[in-house]
Amino acid sequence: MDPVRVGICGLGTVGGGTFDVLTRNADEIARRAGRPIVIEQVGARRDNPACDTTGIKVTRDIFEVASNPDIDVLVELIGGYDVARELVMTAIENGKHVVTANKALIAVHGNEIFRAAHKKGVIVAFEAAVAGGIPVIKSLREGLGGNRIQWLAGIINGTGNYILTHMRDEGRAFDDVLAEAQALGYAEADPTFDVEGIDAAHKLTILASIAFGMPLQFEHAYTEGIARITAEDVEQADNLGYTIKHLGITRRSDNGVELRVHPTLIPKERLLANVHGVKNAIAVMGDAVGPTLFYGAGAGAEPTASAVVADLLDVARNIATDHHYRVPYLAFSGVNDEANAL
Ligand code: HSE
Repeated sequence: MDPVRVGICGLGTVGGGTFDVLTRNADEIARRAGRPIVIEQVGARRDNPACDTTGIKVTRDIFEVASNPDIDVLVELIGGYDVARELVMTAIENGKHVVTANKALIAVHGNEIFRAAHKKGVIVAFEAAVAGGIPVIKSLREGLGGNRIQWLAGIINGTGNYILTHMRDEGRAFDDVLAEAQALGYAEADPTFDVEGIDAAHKLTILASIAFGMPLQFEHAYTEGIARITAEDVEQADNLGYTIKHLGITRRSDNGVELRVHPTLIPKERLLANVHGVKNAIAVMGDAVGPTLFYGAGAGAEPTASAVVADLLDVARNIATDHHYRVPYLAFSGVNDEANAL
């Protein structure tokens, strides 16, 4: 079978991880996809020795990847809003499928992107945009697809959870742990997004859209971060039998859907209070299944790459069978923005 030809834009933490996983597990992935998935081109600001040794073409111009006729799928890993939006829209316009880990892009421009993809009949897949390696998007959309979701709540920013964990366990200062999370490649390019709750609000917006079948409505999310939490707050909470966790919460109510991210006091014995370090966990309540919990690494090179590669596998299977399994990649129907609005 012909290979699926991939163009990766952005070779930072997640791009590097994706490169490594695709290369290391190539045989396994090809067996699962029914065809090889090969990296045809990389768009990156810097040279990468791995590309030199494998002979993969590298360009400084990421838009070259979006218009390269030899590429079937563009993997957008540059992050941010505007350039990423233009890149993804160009790729879609050129008939390419898109895989992205960019939660800011999906939360803010997703409605427009999904409409364009629907029109072109291409897939936009974004498992890696939420909760790193935890397959929560696929689980909500597929595994729990028969449920009426009542609410979901979770720790969905790994950097924030890493900071809160180390402040509590080691009594360390906020800034000190944040610097460590940045060095480990967990934090956003602008760590304000992590500590002010913006990254979690992006992710919650995406989860709510899938859980409740509604358009993405980031502008309606109540957003509060952990930047003002002190070592004393953490210690006091601990003395009272609570752990401070930053949660994203969305639920149905008679007035619509609630979307909020903020620090929360959780009794120490509860499961979510025992999610430590960079781990994420999302509790989902479905009417048929009851309570479920999804747990795993919420950030980092290879956990996030795991989700990117899973999306590439999905795209490969869809191209292979062309069985019109494309609409589920949209967060909502993409046709009626008014439907189910908050
Ligand atoms: N900065 C994000 C986090 C990366 O810490 O959760 C993964 O989305």
